[in-house]
Amino acid sequence: MPRSILADRAVFEENYVPEKIIGRDEQIKQLVRCLKPVRSGDFTVNIYVHGPTGVGKTLVCTSILKKCLPKRFIYVDCFEDNATHDIMEQVMAQAGIFLHGRLSTRDMIKRLKRSDRKFLICLDRCELIKEQEILESFIINGYGLVLISNKPLSYSKFVLNGNSKLYLDEIEFGPYDKESVFEILKSRVSHGISADCISDDLLSMVSGICDGDARRALQIVKLAAREAEIVDQDTITVESIEAAAKKTRSQTLSKVMERLSEKQKIIFDILKDNRRMSSGELFRVYKWLSREEVNDRSYRNQMTALKELGLVKETGETKGKVYEIA
Ligand SMILES: Nc1ncnc2c1ncn2[C@@H]1O[C@H](COP(=O)(O)OP(=O)(O)OP(=O)(O)O)[C@@H](O)[C@H]1O
Ligand SMILES: [Mg+2]
Repeated sequence: MPRSILADRAVFEENYVPEKIIGRDEQIKQLVRCLKPVRSGDFTVNIYVHGPTGVGKTLVCTSILKKCLPKRFIYVDCFEDNATHDIMEQVMAQAGIFLHGRLSTRDMIKRLKRSDRKFLICLDRCELIKEQEILESFIINGYGLVLISNKPLSYSKFVLNGNSKLYLDEIEFGPYDKESVFEILKSRVSHGISADCISDDLLSMVSGICDGDARRALQIVKLAAREAEIVDQDTITVESIEAAAKKTRSQTLSKVMERLSEKQKIIFDILKDNRRMSSGELFRVYKWLSREEVNDRSYRNQMTALKELGLVKETGETKGKVYEIA
């Protein structure tokens, strides 16, 4: 019977904490520097961490906060909780403030204000927060913020709204270079894949095709191991990597789709059906299909978001903009 290639599945899970963080020394240094005032009791810092998907933002922030500020930080993933009330409930629970019954958001904020034990609040995937007024409530009540986002600061709605009280220290995470992804894989494989089941050449191949996204690289290796096991191979081959890479591409797309707002989904679906449309025509159909009132400005914002996500392409033509599925 062929031996199992995947020695430890848990090593490839999202919540696995690697023993070493590779290729992020600069960002760790910046974060530690920004956290200095907090470590001496001044929680009035606001940090904005941004970069594309799978580049270690969550890993670095949670690991460093755990190390530098044990028990003095709160972590909320806004993908799970993005309504103000849900965020507040998370914050209260992690701050150890016990609530009698279901309190309104306003009452929870009042309770938080009265508490003299301050925290640093880390809001991951903060671009999904529904009402940004919550940020102001945290800041004016003396709580620091670590905001993590896929959007650069210049595109962020927090800045676009001109929130003057929100001064942010910015930390950028770029895509990994091939060498760093290789190191990340090498270390993970040594724990998660049986000995001699994947060669360095294949790890190098994966490092080159993952676009600097460590999550995708890890997923490719995990899926390739599974593919190889299914067809009773002893080792991972080029073919298993290629098949896995193809699969991760479609999984990535469906993950992006999950994050779209209702309005963005409507626009994307119209364009998907038509492949290519003039901006005016697309706007007309969108207006017709949308249940809410839509205006030109909101339409332009949705189109900018869809372009940034890489779902839609704009081709400039003399007679006006034309959009097509990317
Ligand atoms: N430097 C690293 N060393 C080891 N593992 C890493 C490193 N960077 C990322 N990873 C792994 O890659 C995966 C993705 O990392 P992480 O969740 O931190 O990405 P992210 O930037 O927060 O992505 P997203 O924007 O999609 O939330 C995780 O499994 C993480 O453990
Ligand atoms: Mg993350």
